[in-house]
Amino acid sequence: MIDAKMEKAFNDQINAEFYSEYLYLSMKAYFADLNLNGFVNWFDVQVQEEHAHGMGMFDYLIERGGRVELQAIAKPETNWASPLECFKQVLEHEQYVTSRINALMDVADEVKDRAALSFLNWYLKEQVEEESTVGNVLSTLKLIGEDKHALLMLDKELATRTFVQPVIG
Ligand code: FEO
Repeated sequence: MIDAKMEKAFNDQINAEFYSEYLYLSMKAYFADLNLNGFVNWFDVQVQEEHAHGMGMFDYLIERGGRVELQAIAKPETNWASPLECFKQVLEHEQYVTSRINALMDVADEVKDRAALSFLNWYLKEQVEEESTVGNVLSTLKLIGEDKHALLMLDKELATRTFVQPVIG
């Protein structure tokens, strides 16, 4: 049986993952409005990844005999000043998620839940990858500046990203 504090921490993180899905869905809509369809594709993959992250914890909590209690998902922002400003927020958000996974691991440490620690290692590695991927797009956007042609080249590149269902845990 899972510790009550651990169970609560997992439920809060399930909410944070589904909020991430919602935030990226909002960003997808922002880029659709700009007719940047490569960015739309990139966020579509991001949305699916966040859904998988949330469901991974959802299924794990049930597997551990815990009780999933879904919470309200906050309203995300719906507009950004530019693609660059939007990606700055993506990176900040991913850094925030990384800090949350670390805090979740602190709880697992505190209640000596080694199985949860082992499970959460996957999320920690995933965060390293996420921050790196987002950081690369952000760096490119900084280089692009006001160059519309270069922005369209990046859009073409982002159109090639594909979703691969992750094997979590
Ligand atoms: Fe689920 Fe982007 O972290």
